[in-house]
Amino acid sequence: MSDDAIPPTIEWRDGRIVMIDQRRLPGELVMLWIENLDELCTAITSLAIRGAPALGVAGAMGIALAAATGIPLEDAARRLIATRPTAVNLAWAVRLAVAAPDPLVEAQRLVTEDIERNRRIGTHGAALLPNSARVYTHCNAGGLACAGYGTAVGVIRAAHEQGMTPSVWVGETRPVLQGARLTAWELTRLRIPATLVADVMAGSLMAAGEVDCVIVGADRVAANGDVANKVGTYTLAVLARHHGVPFYVAAPTSTIDLACPDGATIPIERRGAEEVTGLAGRRIAPEGMLVDNRAFDVTPAALVTALITEDGAVDPASLASS
Ligand code: MRU
Repeated sequence: MSDDAIPPTIEWRDGRIVMIDQRRLPGELVMLWIENLDELCTAITSLAIRGAPALGVAGAMGIALAAATGIPLEDAARRLIATRPTAVNLAWAVRLAVAAPDPLVEAQRLVTEDIERNRRIGTHGAALLPNSARVYTHCNAGGLACAGYGTAVGVIRAAHEQGMTPSVWVGETRPVLQGARLTAWELTRLRIPATLVADVMAGSLMAAGEVDCVIVGADRVAANGDVANKVGTYTLAVLARHHGVPFYVAAPTSTIDLACPDGATIPIERRGAEEVTGLAGRRIAPEGMLVDNRAFDVTPAALVTALITEDGAVDPASLASS
């Protein structure tokens, strides 16, 4: 592996799960070895691994771990699915692994399938970009959020691989800074030109005509095309509409949940106050301050220019009729 190569986000090795510990990036690239279900649930809730497709693979491997350690699969499934409620890929993959004759084979199939799907998303998405697109992205929808390659970052990556010259505005993504820590790290390793900005700068960039499109990932897409993604996504979609900037959502079809009729029925995870009252391990707000920490928001389908899946780019509002 070259110095800049990004190791697999998650894999199965010698009866254990090995994952990049995303809490330690960008300072240290350290692998976390998971031996049992308790460790896996802690790794997921503490964001050592995160991002909808990566959570799916982790969930499926968790079922393989449960099978190997004698834990009833239904108990393991319930515990895993409860760790992060918004990303539907988690429950989807856990259910596939429980139903499979061999959960480990199924988990490994999901890894291969996710990377293939992301490459196809990349090809479809790159076709929508101008040659030197200045893309704004939020949170991390890169290889770290998936089995590999990435969804929103995958589109930028595909454009770059095709010889186009995209550049990226990376929104830092408060409160836990997936943009500043993870997307910035990935793009640097991929040698794709990228500029980090505070989330609050998005509007002025668009007003200055310096954003050609916004591309984000998704944690769940409802049947009517509404999209749940990292909190702050909705704000970007409103800004993009105001400024006439295309707003794309890149996600595999495994993120579409036809059981949720609309965005209002998507469960939104609420996380601990310390993510907001602290920054890089330091307290930044007074003790006792009330905090509301919704980890995701919902962007109405009407604000999404196109949903880019492995099958192509579609108007998300057309999902219900397809
Ligand atoms: O809380 P996180 O870091 O798991 O949130 C991740 C996101 O919101 C991503 O944009 C989404 O999961 C898509 S990842 C391809």
